[in-house]
Amino acid sequence: MALTRRRFIGGLAVGGVAAGLGLSFLSGVAGSTSTGRNLVGRASLPGLFTQPLRIPPVLAPVRSDGDGDHYEITHQVGGAEILPGVSTAIWGYNGIFPGPTIESRSGRPISVTHINELPVPTVVHLHGGRTPPESDGYPIDLILPVGGDVPLPVYAIESGDLAEGQRVYRYPLDQPATTLWYHDHRMDFTGPDVWNGLAGFHIIRDDEEDALGLPSGPRELPLMILDRSFDVDGSLLYPAIDPTALVEAGVTSGFEAGVLGDVNLVNGVPWPFVNVDGARYRLRLLNAANARRYDLRLDPPPPDGFIQIGTDGGLLAEPLQHDHIVMAPAQRFDVIVDFSAYQPGTSVTLVNDFGSGDMARVMRFVVGARGDDNSRIPDRLTTIEPLNTTAAGVITRTMRFNSGHLTTDHGDRHAWLINGEPFSPEVTEASPALDSVEVWRLISDVHHPVHLHLNPFQVLSRGSGGPGPYDIGWKDTVDLLPWEQVAIAARFDGFRGRYVFHCHNLEHEDMAMMSNFVVT
Ligand code: C2O
Ligand code: CU
Ligand code: CU
Repeated sequence: MALTRRRFIGGLAVGGVAAGLGLSFLSGVAGSTSTGRNLVGRASLPGLFTQPLRIPPVLAPVRSDGDGDHYEITHQVGGAEILPGVSTAIWGYNGIFPGPTIESRSGRPISVTHINELPVPTVVHLHGGRTPPESDGYPIDLILPVGGDVPLPVYAIESGDLAEGQRVYRYPLDQPATTLWYHDHRMDFTGPDVWNGLAGFHIIRDDEEDALGLPSGPRELPLMILDRSFDVDGSLLYPAIDPTALVEAGVTSGFEAGVLGDVNLVNGVPWPFVNVDGARYRLRLLNAANARRYDLRLDPPPPDGFIQIGTDGGLLAEPLQHDHIVMAPAQRFDVIVDFSAYQPGTSVTLVNDFGSGDMARVMRFVVGARGDDNSRIPDRLTTIEPLNTTAAGVITRTMRFNSGHLTTDHGDRHAWLINGEPFSPEVTEASPALDSVEVWRLISDVHHPVHLHLNPFQVLSRGSGGPGPYDIGWKDTVDLLPWEQVAIAARFDGFRGRYVFHCHNLEHEDMAMMSNFVVT
């Protein structure tokens, strides 16, 4: 049995030395758009906009009772037809990619029994969920494979909450309507696990939002956008040091900054098209890429652009117009597009101005005849109270997200650190009191999409200016640009206990850019 974990932290390496660490491989430093390296695939690919968009199926509960709705999901190896006529082996929730969508109601609790039939342990996290710590998917609270005997990391053996074959996750969902997603969160291996397919939507609805009259039903499209690369036989390529994703964490030399695929997928379909009526549509945009940032734009542009109505943590106070939407990994943008502004027959391309070649294209909407449309976009959507950060006693903390390295059982590795420390379940960077508001100053070297579990936050400032155009509303992931300082305010309420915060570039997360906060 291999007991594997970085047990020793390099004594010298960790502080203030980014510039000396041979970061020439980091494309993120000087004006580039994503931090990472392109992984060139070898499969033959379908033409752009030749494949129909698919919408992931909505999961039905196995039963409902006084405690809420109960679901079951099995983690399985599946064969997905991603490239036409080719079966790609994936790790999927119920064997599909993306996983089935869970639709829930605010305030109505659910439980999800996750059964793991994969060859690796798994951990499930509901991203953006206000979840008690024992159901939040702490990275060493593993679900061991059914009947499998696999090597386990030292930390999991020493202090993880290990479940044999399955675990019941309980979600109170005491939070407003929004777009969440669930994905794997296994310590050291979240990158390969998600790359292999372990991601799905979770949509919370509520009465407040229903009353707004937003586009709905077939005119509401969840769009999970991400990049992947494929080998010549159609299998997923990933530059793992350890292809079994069991023993040694990390990616091969050159990919430490992040893995960027060369195929854009939306809901698991390469560069799809979808036929739409000439009417308003609600698009729930999710960037589920490991490392890629997208700058989305519609071509030709509609007169009103994207009308943003919501983000990570729920509705915005009022609609916000954008010509572009810049999305970092894990972020969600809930937008309305009015396709009635186009002539029937127009092809409207969702382009990515951060990509080149085919990566500059994402999908296509083919506009049909004008459709009846009684949807509305009210001027007021919800109420968002600014968190009070000027009260006496508000604690301010500084979190530095930097390149570094550390010594592991497998040798010296490039790593990503928070305040000079690699992730360890034993290191607590912050212990906010329950219900307190804190200000965190986040400081970067390259792009780091920083995510806090448990509570959404408000962006207070970016550099010397105010929040940027994509920072409005309740965020749970903020897009830190290279050499930037962003201040956020969060209220730590709901539950006491231990949670993680981390970089959502999954290669950074796996290479230790994660830490703990404990709500006391
Ligand atoms: Cu989307 Cu800690 O995760
Ligand atoms: Cu999360
Ligand atoms: Cu990062």
